[in-house]
Amino acid sequence: MARFAVVAAADQSLLASVAIKPLPEAGGEIGYMAATGARGRGFTAAALRLLAGWAFAALRMERLEALIQPANEASIRTAERPAFPPMGPAASAAPSRASGTPTWSTCFRARAPSR
Ligand SMILES: CC(C)(COP(=O)(O)OP(=O)(O)OC[C@H]1O[C@@H](n2cnc3c(N)ncnc32)[C@H](O)[C@@H]1OP(=O)(O)O)[C@@H](O)C(=O)NCCC(=O)NCCS
Repeated sequence: MARFAVVAAADQSLLASVAIKPLPEAGGEIGYMAATGARGRGFTAAALRLLAGWAFAALRMERLEALIQPANEASIRTAERPAFPPMGPAASAAPSRASGTPTWSTCFRARAPSR
C-alpha cells in the first residue's frame, strides 16, 4: 500500500489523499478522499492522474480498479477523470448484497496505455 497526501503549499494543510494497493495479476486498487473544505477544486482528480501514471509507468501495473458505492456520484466522476479508458466492471468485483441490491459496485477500471 502506498499513500500520498496533497497539501497546500502555503500552510501544509491537507487537501486530499490518494492510495494504491497491489492486486493480483498486475492490478492495483485505488482509494481517495478530499478534505471537506477542498472539494470540487480538482485536487483529487489531479492526484489520481499522477498516481495512475506512476502505477502504469513505474509500477508496471496493467489495470486499476476502484470500489465505489453506486450512489457516490462525486467518487464516480472523480474516478472517470484520470483519462485512461474505462474497461467496465472489474473482474475481481464480487458485490456484497443486502436485500438483493448491491451495496457497492466497481464502476471504474482503467488499463495502462499501450507501451
Ligand atoms: C469523492 C471525492 C474524493 C471527490 O474529491 P474532489 O476533490 O471534490 O473531486 P475533484 O474536485 O477532483 O472533482 C473530480 C470530478 O468529480 C466531480 N465532482 C466532485 N464533487 C462532486 C459532487 N458532489 N457531485 C457530482 N460531481 C462531483 C467534479 O465536477 C469533477 O468532474 P468534472 O471535472 O467532470 O467536472 C470527495 O467528494 C470525497 O472525499 N468524498 C468522500 C470520500 C469518498 O467518497 N471517497 C471515495 C471512496 S470510493
